[in-house]
Amino acid sequence: MIFIAAAMPIRTHAGSGQADRPPSNDNIVSTWRILRAVDCARCHGKDYEGLAAPSIVDYARTQSREMFDRMVLDGDPPRGMPAYRDNPQIAGHIDDIYRYFVGRANGTIRAGAPQPQPQSK
Ligand code: HEC
Repeated sequence: MIFIAAAMPIRTHAGSGQADRPPSNDNIVSTWRILRAVDCARCHGKDYEGLAAPSIVDYARTQSREMFDRMVLDGDPPRGMPAYRDNPQIAGHIDDIYRYFVGRANGTIRAGAPQPQPQSK
């Protein structure tokens, strides 16, 4: 047991476990830009809290990671939610996108444009 634990690299979190860690500010800024570019807001409202389509923030608060991924990647085309599986900006950053909405749901990420931190450069 001890041997196995010691042999575990620090990269233990590199897989899906990443979604449990709070995103860095740079991460929030880049994720926010992707969401703006893809314009989820045109259906979900400017802060993603609902408009013609339901709140993505509430969804991240109440649903599982699996449900979130399935909804964003497969969508629900008959009901107006596009599938983003073929969009590399979304499919390639699904961890960051999930963490953004979990942060919005638990209040660690504020609505609106994130403030770039000067010392993060
Ligand atoms: C063209 C309009 C439109 C766009 C653009 C859009 N959505 Fe949706 N989305 C919807 C609709 C409509 C639903 C409700 C579908 C349903 O009832 O099954 C939905 C549902 C969802 C849900 C599940 C919410 C719930 O309560 O059922 C999530 C999560 C979601 N969208 C995420 C996103 C993300 C992330 C983006 C941008 C990458 C996005 N959507 C872009 C229309 C849109």
